[in-house]
Amino acid sequence: MQKTVCELFAGVGGFRLGLQHSSPQWETVWFSQWEPGRKKQWAHDCYVKHWGDIDERTGQDIASVDKTAIPDHTLLVGGFPCQNYSVAASKSSKGIEGEKGALWWSIRDTLIAKRPPFVLLENVDRLLKSPASQRGRDFGVMLTCFAQLGYSVEWRVVNAADYGAAQRRRRIFIFACNNRTRHGAAMGLCTAEDLLLQDGFFAHAFPCTIDGSLRTERIPFHDLSNVDPLTLLTTGDEDGNNDLLDISRQFAFPFENSGFMMNGIIHTCSTVPVHEPPTPLRQIAVQDADQRYYISDESMGKWVYLKGAKRIDRVSKSGHAYVFSEGPIAFPDPLDRPSRTMLTSESSLNRSTHVIADPVTGRLRLLTPVEAERLQGFDDEWTNTGMPEKFRYFCMGNALVVPMIERMGTVLNKIIEAEP
Ligand SMILES: C[S@@+](CC[C@H](N)C(=O)[O-])C[C@H]1O[C@@H](n2cnc3c(N)ncnc32)[C@H](O)[C@@H]1O
Repeated sequence: MQKTVCELFAGVGGFRLGLQHSSPQWETVWFSQWEPGRKKQWAHDCYVKHWGDIDERTGQDIASVDKTAIPDHTLLVGGFPCQNYSVAASKSSKGIEGEKGALWWSIRDTLIAKRPPFVLLENVDRLLKSPASQRGRDFGVMLTCFAQLGYSVEWRVVNAADYGAAQRRRRIFIFACNNRTRHGAAMGLCTAEDLLLQDGFFAHAFPCTIDGSLRTERIPFHDLSNVDPLTLLTTGDEDGNNDLLDISRQFAFPFENSGFMMNGIIHTCSTVPVHEPPTPLRQIAVQDADQRYYISDESMGKWVYLKGAKRIDRVSKSGHAYVFSEGPIAFPDPLDRPSRTMLTSESSLNRSTHVIADPVTGRLRLLTPVEAERLQGFDDEWTNTGMPEKFRYFCMGNALVVPMIERMGTVLNKIIEAEP
């Protein structure tokens, strides 16, 4: 099996970089990156400056791309936006329709069209609990899609700081393997506990212990793994098959931070990481930050206000009066521990922007773009490809912690090398 990969929602290439760090054999056969509503596509430009382009479709809305034209690949990866995955019955046909604009359906269409042996996805951890009105439904819809297409799935919520990173960033990773792979067959022979603690994909990449009891649930699903992929793409699901519709209407389940699904049976439990020493923020700080990153005397009051505790009288749209309150957050951010999660608004005048005491001068300043890159484990100046600084922070806020992908890449390499 070749180490070929297709990277959807590629951003500035965190998956590609992490996989390359795990083995130079990884070859990206196609990628997709398009920022909705923007004329200038900074992330796509950055990606292409590092690795070159593949064809004119890599910079288009993935929803509009014909998935059958994507080159074959062993691994499909992507960090996709968390959206509403509910489905409804289509008026015109017997099939189902996914919530318009939800990019999950582009991933599913790619699975249908290409049937890659392995899949690795990243998302925010609230995916497990969304929507608030029917907790677990959206993840249930995703698992059902995978089950129908003949995949087994493992998931784990990982806080990068627990595994050595300089940032507390909690994300769900989802690993799926086609049941016809050797790895898929081997998974089927494991007990649930063994899979979660020692034999599974995440057990290897992110050692953990079990905390609490295992819960099990069956998803009723119709196996579509033997249906001709082209038929599935053009006509939707088979006649009378409304598994996804039923799940979307009724399914709710308390997914824990770890679990797996095989043949429609879900096993989930809470796990705790076997901690590795985290990297303190001080360690990624540059020694020569430019003056423009320093907080001016004039703006200091605004920062103190934003970071401080407050109680504000407000009136909701419906006219209901309430008190908005929030506690203080550390100001400046401590240098002796990993940072908070970096957001796309990093460096703007915002409560969530990091402010540190410069380790050399002791004066308060923002993180530099290079520090933002280091927090995500990218090479220094990775996004210094012509985009305004605001977008360098934006791209880093969107990205992932590259060394986490490298760890998973190392496990994947072994799995793929063991396949015939
Ligand atoms: C969470 S970010 C992933 C970042 C990436 N993992 C990285 O390391 O930089 C999601 C990306 O999907 C892109 N995106 C959103 N909608 C898209 C669409 N319809 N087609 C293609 N890309 C899209 C966004 O521009 C964003 O860069």
